[in-house]
Amino acid sequence: MNTLWSKYVQGTKTLYFSRKLRFDDLFSDQYRSLFDLDVNKKLKIFEIGCGPGALASALHRWYPYAEITAIDRDSEFIRFAIEHESEVNFIEGDATALPFEDNTFDVTISNTVAEHIEPSKFYGEQIRVLKPGGICLVLSSRKGININPKCITFNEYEQQFWNKAEQYDDSMDRFSVCKYPMSEAEIPATMAEYGFTNISTGFAAVDLTPDNPKFSSSLALDMINANRYTALDAIESVLHTMPEHFTTQEVDEMKRLTNAKYDARIEQYQRGEKQWDTNVSIIMVIRGIK
Ligand SMILES: C[S@@+](CC[C@H](N)C(=O)[O-])C[C@H]1O[C@@H](n2cnc3c(N)ncnc32)[C@H](O)[C@@H]1O
Repeated sequence: MNTLWSKYVQGTKTLYFSRKLRFDDLFSDQYRSLFDLDVNKKLKIFEIGCGPGALASALHRWYPYAEITAIDRDSEFIRFAIEHESEVNFIEGDATALPFEDNTFDVTISNTVAEHIEPSKFYGEQIRVLKPGGICLVLSSRKGININPKCITFNEYEQQFWNKAEQYDDSMDRFSVCKYPMSEAEIPATMAEYGFTNISTGFAAVDLTPDNPKFSSSLALDMINANRYTALDAIESVLHTMPEHFTTQEVDEMKRLTNAKYDARIEQYQRGEKQWDTNVSIIMVIRGIK
């Protein structure tokens, strides 16, 4: 039972709800054009580091004939993914020692995983399990735009809470988070180094702006609530990462303040008081062939 990532790094709700939006069908044309896969083929697609499974679900919708398998080493993510998506074969396992024979898959894919795993293992294992001519897709989140609504600003109590957490938080080092960061130039060069050919790169822009009338009200509320879940997970995680420095009362008070602020943002949205807060993710897609 391994729950290190979901307990100490990013909670299930944070990853599931933010990725559900990132891989909403509204953005599927951008991804499908960058992935350049044959939608009519019965492809064997394998997702590495799938977390709670939002991308794997999107792949099932976008490539209905494909057989999709997805792996993560976090037991809680896999439990959640199995409960929410029955059309994908989710398995618990290690990306550095994949439980598959050589030449098994037509496509491997990962989203924001490459920077956490030692590259010779991350790419070496993918090239091993891909069939000759198979496609490796690496998705990497790059610098985007994040403008919060005014009502979300921290008050003094919240600022002090986060100042204290910053002082004691060593989870990035403890769990090797982002131990292998790479620039937009380094990722394709590294893939070439590990044997991939015909490498191409491209970018998808995922624009999440609740007040933009092009988004339905249910999607706008999902955007606001995804930020709420991320904030609540971050608060909760201090009880796991640094329990000696925080009390449950402090955490409960933070959660109460946070919920009140996001409730206020939803009321503003429902009254039509535009805030124009926005979150634009830039997702780099690097595609290489074995
Ligand atoms: C930033 S999260 C991304 C999760 C998912 N791709 C998403 O976008 O929601 C990184 C994921 O990589 C997984 N991970 C890290 N090292 C791993 C390894 N050696 N084997 C399998 N999964 C791993 C973590 O458990 C976590 O789910």
